[in-house]
Amino acid sequence: MSNLNVQKPLNIVAVSGGLNTPSKTEALVQAIINELGEAIPINVHFIKFSEIGRLLGGAIYRNQLPQRVQDDLAAVEAADALIVGTPVYRASFTGLFKHFFDFVEQTALVDVPVLLAASGGSERHALVLEHQLRPLFSFFQAQTLPIGVYATDKDFTPEYTIHSGLLHERITLAVARALPILEWAPAKGQRAEAIKEKSQLANQNLGINKQIEQEEVLPSAAVPSLDAAEARLHHKKPKAHVA
Ligand SMILES: Cc1cc2nc3c(=O)[nH]c(=O)nc-3n(C[C@H](O)[C@H](O)[C@H](O)COP(=O)(O)O)c2cc1C
Repeated sequence: MSNLNVQKPLNIVAVSGGLNTPSKTEALVQAIINELGEAIPINVHFIKFSEIGRLLGGAIYRNQLPQRVQDDLAAVEAADALIVGTPVYRASFTGLFKHFFDFVEQTALVDVPVLLAASGGSERHALVLEHQLRPLFSFFQAQTLPIGVYATDKDFTPEYTIHSGLLHERITLAVARALPILEWAPAKGQRAEAIKEKSQLANQNLGINKQIEQEEVLPSAAVPSLDAAEARLHHKKPKAHVA
């Protein structure tokens, strides 16, 4: 589908907030993964709430979560790009979906491309992508991709495969519009190493009840030369690099 020149496979982390098995959200996210995989080389880590959902509740601190979920959070923080999907519950993402992202380190997703997806029972809640999901990932200063994908129950067969041609077209469009942005995805496969320290600190200290003071915000791994960029903007000297 594309001539995108990506030497190393992109490190894609997909998250499905669907709690059921089978799950329409999971099927939708898988279809997006498949489409992207046809266009460019990718490695995929797929986090399914149908598997980890019940492990999430009750934890206030990240170190209270099972190791498996801590590893999933670290994978999200190390991703070159995310594909995130949630079922619509009461006009929003599910509570557990938000709870999971409350544990993600606040600065780890700066500039990370995020493809937004949701499945709902009704077309009337399609704007959940714009009114709920996009602001959440804007908070992280992630780069939410221009086209999101919304599906309804009607788009799936009883076996939860996608039978709607329009939905397939939308998935193709979302991936096609994502490709130019993924081309300059901050890390092109090199981000994982840079982010490790952030994830380790988060595993030790991060609680959903703790606000990060601005001074504590670590420099972005995605934009390591932010200081230099700022210096150009404000005609300031770059801050001395502290090893
Ligand atoms: C508790 C609950 C609340 C729901 N609220 C909404 C809603 O507000 N709007 C909507 O369009 N669908 C709603 N639905 C329907 C689901 O979003 C829809 O069936 C979705 O595709 C389920 O995804 P899954 O198969 O991955 O679990 C709700 C379903 C449940 C179980």
